[in-house]
Amino acid sequence: MKLNLSADEVLTTTRSVRKRLDFDRPVGREIVEECLDLALQAPSGSNRQTWHWMFVTDPAKKQALADIYAKNFALYASAPAPEYAAGDSRGERMGSVRNSAQYLADNFHRTPILMIPCIEGRFENLPTAAQAGGWGSLLPAVWSFMLALRERGMGSAWTTIHLMNDGEKQAAELLGIPYDKVTQGGLFPIAYTQGTDFKLAQRLPVSEVSHWETW
Ligand SMILES: Cc1cc2nc3c(=O)[nH]c(=O)nc-3n(C[C@H](O)[C@H](O)[C@H](O)COP(=O)(O)O)c2cc1C
Repeated sequence: MKLNLSADEVLTTTRSVRKRLDFDRPVGREIVEECLDLALQAPSGSNRQTWHWMFVTDPAKKQALADIYAKNFALYASAPAPEYAAGDSRGERMGSVRNSAQYLADNFHRTPILMIPCIEGRFENLPTAAQAGGWGSLLPAVWSFMLALRERGMGSAWTTIHLMNDGEKQAAELLGIPYDKVTQGGLFPIAYTQGTDFKLAQRLPVSEVSHWETW
């Protein structure tokens, strides 16, 4: 069922959903493929479409991915957090983001479907233009996929922590992804959301992050 949100509503209320993922409601393959079909309308460099989409529903594999994530998350969470000036919304939100992120780390395996977006090639040693071209040929489609989930009452959270340390390699071995030829972009839970009301986030104002004519 679609929520019939306006384009602006979808753009402004697609949040990182962690605590409101409904782990008990199954998600069908058909609706996920519908979202992916929409996402594949995103641009890619030279229209190469070298993206691949790995979906995981097998409980043992989901648990193994969740274990990789949790191990890296523990390291990430023990590192010093960035500091912000008093009144900065990023500092004010940090406690609840961390709390919610910990919840996802503890419960990742319970998500009905996990998704890893992948792109052909490895970018570690490439010049900036090639890296930008590579990521730019995957991430717009990933975001479109999240927007399509939102319109259908589902949600996800953009995560990259499983890639840290040797995590990307471990996930590649687990899922048969050819690590030397294919780069993973993150790990995305896919679930219906508990309720469908999501709010606008507080962001830095346009005036603070925009530059016209000169930096
Ligand atoms: C590149 C990127 C990496 C992220 N990695 C993680 C992650 O590993 N774990 C997590 O819980 N959230 C992760 N997030 C989600 C951010 O914490 C979230 O987008 C931010 O707090 C703003 O919240 P919102 O998406 O609900 O507006 C990531 C987001 C981005 C864009």
